[in-house]
Amino acid sequence: MTAPALNPPLNPALFHLDEAHLWVMHCAEGPVPRAAMRVVRAFMHKELQPWAMGFEEDFVGLPRSLRAEVATLLGGRAEDVSLTPTTSSGLVALAQGFPWQPGDEVLAPLGEFPSNVWPWLALAARGLSFREVPLWDGHGAGAEAWASTAPGPESDPEARLIAALGPRTRILSVSWVRFQDGLMLDLQRLGAACRERGVALVVDGIQGLGTVPLNLEGLSAMASGGYKGLLAPEGLGLLWTAPEFRARLAPTGSWLSVEQATDFSRPSTDLQRAWLTDGRALEPGGPNLLHSAALVESLRLLNETGIPAIQAHVAHLQGGLLDALQATPWAAEVARLRGLGAAGRLGSILSFHHGHHGPEAMERLLRSGYRQGIFASVREGYLRVAFHGFHTDHDVNRVAAWLGGAGAP
Ligand SMILES: Cc1ncc(COP(=O)(O)O)c(C=O)c1O
Repeated sequence: MTAPALNPPLNPALFHLDEAHLWVMHCAEGPVPRAAMRVVRAFMHKELQPWAMGFEEDFVGLPRSLRAEVATLLGGRAEDVSLTPTTSSGLVALAQGFPWQPGDEVLAPLGEFPSNVWPWLALAARGLSFREVPLWDGHGAGAEAWASTAPGPESDPEARLIAALGPRTRILSVSWVRFQDGLMLDLQRLGAACRERGVALVVDGIQGLGTVPLNLEGLSAMASGGYKGLLAPEGLGLLWTAPEFRARLAPTGSWLSVEQATDFSRPSTDLQRAWLTDGRALEPGGPNLLHSAALVESLRLLNETGIPAIQAHVAHLQGGLLDALQATPWAAEVARLRGLGAAGRLGSILSFHHGHHGPEAMERLLRSGYRQGIFASVREGYLRVAFHGFHTDHDVNRVAAWLGGAGAP
């Protein structure tokens, strides 16, 4: 029996969506609510006349409001939040600031999005090793990506990662929700195992934030951009660090990483200052005020709505789609994805594996969706359908008619 229709927790009327574009790919880029556009426009008016800008209200106030909204979203403290442009830049700040010894190692799952790879590989010349761990039997990536098998409900990726932690592993760095196969990892299980071994758990959170409630217990750091599930424009994100982990990192060294940096009654050239110990120590420099204005609005909307309500709604939509595709050539994928959902291993991305059909068939399938005004995405062997809190049962029916009608690729 199909579950009864639910009102979407995020009112679609708050967005600029239209019937010609069913956007089920916030896993690539999320739509921004109209409210964000309004505040950005208002802020740009101030930029036209700099005397309209307030030091306390804008330069100090906007980043402060943003850190507070981020803290609410994460269930953490504003002092532990750094405002960073992207996921990559957050992870780079950690990689560059960590007190490495030659021979140290970073461990990561195989097939991470490269923002969680290049920051570590960039330190190879300083003696840092980077080791990847396949998460299930037949798991492949890179040149093998399309030949990879898909994870099933019986997969135990955390066990494989924990077993792979070695004596020189300093950091385990994982995506919370993986970008291609959509698998969601159990961060608390990983965090507990890391803590026992003195390893820091670093998380790329971008594919989970905004659609899955977060528990920071056991994490050392989390980085994310703001432009996917967080529904803000590209260009501003966040880094959260646990205080004891942050204390081990070198500050980024921006002029705002030190105490009283904006107290202009004291010469800025006076270098007798202590480094800040809160999240601002890891920020890249002066705040991105325009983007802060937008991200604050998006986060306010998400926080007022509540991520648990969004998660429940997404699960309802996913269930509806899987039910509708049950008696179609997608049946095997439906069973696999249902199993992953029941095992608590799905975020907001339903990733349908291509089977043995290959990239061209998936591209044709994607294009047949575009012709019906349905915008999904394909990555590394998977067709990704990502629902958010503003999607409706009508949207599910459209995707079901497309995929059911087209059949498996
Ligand atoms: C898992 C994951 N991490 C990071 C990113 C983006 O990184 P950045 O915020 O550095 O652009 C993506 C984008 O697709 C992603 O899927």
